[in-house]
Amino acid sequence: MRTPLVMGNWKLNGTKESVEALVKGLVEPANAASSVQVAVCAPVIFLGQVEQLTAGSKLAYGAQDADIHTSGAFTGENSPVMLKEFGCTYSLVGHSERREYHNESDEVVAGKFKAIQEYGLVPVLCIGESLEQNEAGETQAVVERQLKAVVDLCGIDAFNNAVIAYEPIWAIGTGKSATAEQAQAVHAGIRQWLAAQSADVAAKVQILYGGSVKAATAKELFSQPDIDGGLVGGASLIVDEFAGIIAAA
Ligand code: 13P
Repeated sequence: MRTPLVMGNWKLNGTKESVEALVKGLVEPANAASSVQVAVCAPVIFLGQVEQLTAGSKLAYGAQDADIHTSGAFTGENSPVMLKEFGCTYSLVGHSERREYHNESDEVVAGKFKAIQEYGLVPVLCIGESLEQNEAGETQAVVERQLKAVVDLCGIDAFNNAVIAYEPIWAIGTGKSATAEQAQAVHAGIRQWLAAQSADVAAKVQILYGGSVKAATAKELFSQPDIDGGLVGGASLIVDEFAGIIAAA
């Protein structure tokens, strides 16, 4: 039995004031959700503040990206070692916005995944197809290619300590979520692909759905057998919405 995980991705949002209100508002619902893991992925500049505000609570947190390197002349980057020092449990890797706006290839994403895991964080590997790829019937091929890059570099057992987030790009920030049936079909395909290499890994790994998840739609999504929670953007910035999604899990 996999524990559900509900994770917020704040993206490029927040002020010191809004972060304080949001985290304070989420500590209670996170503590109350005894059988659900709850986490938020904050902009790195707020991680110290999040660390203080979540102290002693069940609310975990992470970063939205990490560099391959641990230190050195890499202006603007943040290393997994730094994230670990600030108490992060997780780091997203390969979010479609990173792949698109920062030209991150499958190989770069795999390298980052490896570094994140090597320094003691849990990588949350984001995968998913564009609308064009979806309409061309290429969804399964795209997610397999994205997964394969990580398996080639890190091995299938790396997914014993990682999370997968299936986020169809056409559903991100559009208000147009995949239906529960659509998402379940892709999640089942992902799990089958993993199972062909290790039934044990496939049975254990959490696969989250992301893309316009709202409190109103979360329950149906999360009731699907292969959907183990959600990676939530916009709705994770609103205490009541995110609390509703936690409750649905
Ligand atoms: P939205 O929930 O705003 O569609 O964003 C999803 C996402 O990209 C989470 O990583």
